[in-house]
Amino acid sequence: MVLLVGMSGGSGVIYGVRLLEVLKRLKVEAHLIISTAAQETLVIETSYKVRYVESLASRVYRFNDIAAAPSSGTFRTQGMVVIPCSMKTLAGIASGYSDNLLLRAAEVTLKERRPLVLVPRETPLTTIHIENMLRVAQAGAILLPAMPGFYDRPMTIDELVNHVVGKVLDVLNIEHDLYKRWAGPQ
Ligand SMILES: Cc1cc2nc3c(=O)[nH]c(=O)nc-3n(C[C@H](O)[C@H](O)[C@H](O)COP(=O)(O)O)c2cc1C
Repeated sequence: MVLLVGMSGGSGVIYGVRLLEVLKRLKVEAHLIISTAAQETLVIETSYKVRYVESLASRVYRFNDIAAAPSSGTFRTQGMVVIPCSMKTLAGIASGYSDNLLLRAAEVTLKERRPLVLVPRETPLTTIHIENMLRVAQAGAILLPAMPGFYDRPMTIDELVNHVVGKVLDVLNIEHDLYKRWAGPQ
């Protein structure tokens, strides 16, 4: 079953790259939509090329290809993850303003009552951001902010990234070994 992955232009594009790497390893069929801004943050924040990120997905759709399969609820998926989710994309989902394929796919995921996991990244937050988060949560989206835990004493950025990506896989019920599960203080 297809899992849609949307990458928008919030900081933390590495979270989206890591999710795609893990999905590929787990043989989950990931279909990818990368926004224009996410392609820019990829270059600013990492050494990865867009070509590499796209090669991790089973299928890639153009950001503006509003006629692509994920635009319709008849295209079956097991859900969608938007990682990272910018405040602009959050606003688009909250208001139903689906003027690109990423937004339309998220809207379809919500209306079909499939899991929509959003990984928002911004700080500090305005009441506009918070109200948009409330709206999408009330519509059924799962808000999973890029807030890694520190209780397993991470030593590397990789471990912090894996913590957030592992939480995404957890809410989708996809088995992984990205972190050690908490079993109480040692
Ligand atoms: C380096 C960089 C970092 C950014 N970080 C954030 C961020 O953390 N959160 C956010 O909401 N927008 C951030 N932005 C702004 C978004 O990229 C911008 O609002 C863009 O229009 C989002 O478009 P999209 O949602 O279609 O990808 C950042 C932009 C750049 C260039």
